[in-house]
Amino acid sequence: MNLLPDLLIQNCGQLLTVAGASRRPKILKGMDDLGIILDGAVAIKDGNIIDVGTTKQLGKKYNKKGIQVIDALGKVVLPGFVDCHTHAVFGGDRAGEFVQRLQGANYLEILKKGGGILSTVENTRKLTLEKLINVSKKYLDTMLLDGTTTVEVKSGYGLDKNNELKILKAIQYLQKTHHIDIVPTFLGAHTIPSEYQSYPDAYVDLVCNILQEVKPYATFCDVFCDEGGFDVEQTERILSTAKKLGFGLKIHINEFKEVGGVPLAVRLCVTSADHLDNIKYRDILKLKKCGIICVLLPGVPFFLMKNNYAPGRKMIEEGLPIALATDFNPGTCPCANIQMIITLACLKLCITPAQAINAVTINAAHALEMADRIGSIEVGKQADIIILDIQDYNQLPYYFGTNHVKKVFKKGRLIVEDKQLVDLR
Ligand code: NIG
Ligand code: FE
Repeated sequence: MNLLPDLLIQNCGQLLTVAGASRRPKILKGMDDLGIILDGAVAIKDGNIIDVGTTKQLGKKYNKKGIQVIDALGKVVLPGFVDCHTHAVFGGDRAGEFVQRLQGANYLEILKKGGGILSTVENTRKLTLEKLINVSKKYLDTMLLDGTTTVEVKSGYGLDKNNELKILKAIQYLQKTHHIDIVPTFLGAHTIPSEYQSYPDAYVDLVCNILQEVKPYATFCDVFCDEGGFDVEQTERILSTAKKLGFGLKIHINEFKEVGGVPLAVRLCVTSADHLDNIKYRDILKLKKCGIICVLLPGVPFFLMKNNYAPGRKMIEEGLPIALATDFNPGTCPCANIQMIITLACLKLCITPAQAINAVTINAAHALEMADRIGSIEVGKQADIIILDIQDYNQLPYYFGTNHVKKVFKKGRLIVEDKQLVDLR
């Protein structure tokens, strides 16, 4: 067996390995630890990490002849970001609605009048599969440029069988052709479509009935269990059917209101419970029971001009595994840059930069059940690695609103350099 690397990244001022939590997510004090190696180096072969240590240690082990050597120039190097909750396949935008909200209109009121998610459904239904792919590809390109190397993408702007399948096929095409790794989720139960407003339970039946057909296209099934979405009974019907068919389960809860989603999430033992902005202290403790990953999305209350952020710091103190994501979508968070979300998490969820970085790498990988392959820089893992143009990781959220990414390696291939995609697909 030839153990010589084909790529060596060295002189990493701070190499944030985020190691040691591939089997179980980080909690409590683990959230403060980034597994830092000063003046670190990573050896890569065939897209996988084969060695991690200091530049000196790896320099002694490997003769550099025939190896591509990347000098990280003393900068911060870490695993590619994992954005574990997005709705990145949709038509149109809602900039007009944004202005209405700035003038006092309310998000849920707009939805009740047939706008909001429903207007995006209209715009998405109009697009052909090809157009939808082209629009979404641009969003994925931006994510890569911002350092995201794996992204979960939900359907949910089709809301009928053919349009939901169209979105899932767009995701599948992008999965096969784009550098970014995509985890597909079926969110047919995003809201009740206009044509079913008077028969919501008939729409729940429809969602249950198409689960079998969408199964080949989706790893997870998700339901928006909240005001403006589905009640507990409807959500349970969909998610328990999905569970029997072998989907992993996710659930949107407590974004707007507590409607009984927490006990349901625990009953179903979902992989992740997402949003949790309006959660009571006693309910936080309930979530602890079955190791549910709490996916927090601070971009949403920020963009909706609310002050009800999820109690991130408290959740960490209580020993809950938290992850962070963008929720990239046209209504509640049109920001696909996870670096901005790290800053918001620090400022609004009152967590530290180290905790936030753990939450967007290894814990986000757990929220996608992929922590055995991604989310940290450890031997055996996929070489998804980013170099940031900073000397100390605390500078990442501190200098906010700027893209710090210098280089992105995906499965050991350099695909982003100096704000450009260099290996075009
Ligand atoms: O996660 N509110 C439910 N779903 C999305 C928003 C979708 C939209 O407004 O288009 C969310 O916030
Ligand atoms: Fe969402």
